[in-house]
Amino acid sequence: AESGGLPPVHGLDWDALAARVASCERCRLCEKRTNTVFGVGDQNADWMLIGEAPGENEDKQGEPFVGQAGKLLDNMLRSLALARGTNVYIANVIKCRPPGNRNPEPDEVARCEPYLQRQVALVKPKLIIALGRFAAQSLLKTDASISSLRGRVHQYEGVPVIVTYHPAYLLRSLPDKSKAWADLCLARDTYRRAGG
Ligand code: URA
Repeated sequence: AESGGLPPVHGLDWDALAARVASCERCRLCEKRTNTVFGVGDQNADWMLIGEAPGENEDKQGEPFVGQAGKLLDNMLRSLALARGTNVYIANVIKCRPPGNRNPEPDEVARCEPYLQRQVALVKPKLIIALGRFAAQSLLKTDASISSLRGRVHQYEGVPVIVTYHPAYLLRSLPDKSKAWADLCLARDTYRRAGG
């Protein structure tokens, strides 16, 4: 449920939703952002990838995953025979950079989540991949560890969700890269089972 006084987000079309995010002042993160980061890709994609929040480069450029982690994410997409803009939509749970890349606060997530919910409703993906602990815990409303969430199929708004490591984490953890590849195989299998 959305908190009182805020204009509803459900029912907005893409243009209205993007405009609403661009001028958003629902939480304190608006004070220090350079740009909001709405999302990119194919608005009719079967696949949706959801990260945490913009970092420094994303805040400057207004696009998700443009830094080093984004390059690894592109490789992960390639392993699924996907690419940005072809059957993939990429968004974050939080649309504005938290100062110094601190973790988003629960009230910031609560204020921002209607935008993501609306993006999911508009894209109608067949599969969501949650990138990292924060995205997974926010989407699935749990504080379970990422290792306990990996390896099975969850649901968000009626869409199957696979959890994997965040690409920024994988850049620092070689051993977990092979686990991430297993997650992508599970994602591919789940997508096929969903009729993709
Ligand atoms: N990390 C994220 O979770 N999202 C981005 O857009 C960039 C880095």
